[in-house]
Amino acid sequence: MTNVGIIVGSLREGSFTKKIAQSVASFLPSDYNVSIIDINLDLYNEDLDQPGKVPASWENFRAQMNDVDAVIFATPEYNRSIPGGLKNAIDVGSRPMGSSVWDMKPALVLSVSPGAIGGFGANMALRQSLVFLNMPVVQQPEAYIGGVTNILDADGEVTEQRELSYFKSIADAFVDLINKNNK
Ligand code: FNR
Repeated sequence: MTNVGIIVGSLREGSFTKKIAQSVASFLPSDYNVSIIDINLDLYNEDLDQPGKVPASWENFRAQMNDVDAVIFATPEYNRSIPGGLKNAIDVGSRPMGSSVWDMKPALVLSVSPGAIGGFGANMALRQSLVFLNMPVVQQPEAYIGGVTNILDADGEVTEQRELSYFKSIADAFVDLINKNNK
């Protein structure tokens, strides 16, 4: 069983980014176990990262991420970078030193925006951290999903065949990376 965790960089109830992540994930093999991991966590503070002081939200997040074999990062772009909540989750998961939940786990980056540039700045900023965290990342497709409000229909679903084919190619590249990593 392959457990895939989806980390959505937006906390917004009606997040477009979450919708796109779910649509891409729908093309993963049916025997994959896919779940969205909550990143509404206490802010990282090294003073709290010691026995007896660790916030429950960090403990839950780290425990869930330890059960995950591969990660989909789906992020909006905030001010040409990733949202603070996503960076915080990355930081929480990276500590304590030597117990990172990210190390060597295959990752997929999706950046999503209503704008034309498709969250390029967020996509690149996220990849910079993933290099340091030692995660093998899908390089192609780079997966900039721009004009998202034109892609989602009135019910908030992706239905256009052109987009669905693109999303399937993204999911296929992720599965290839996971399989290579398991060899
Ligand atoms: C944005 N937005 C935005 N969009 C973009 O393409 N580039 C950017 O740099 C920014 N910056 C930015 C900063 C902040 C603080 C907010 C709240 C928003 C717009 C953003 O793409 C839009 O709100 C998306 O709908 C957010 O994604 P979700 O919540 O729909 O997943």
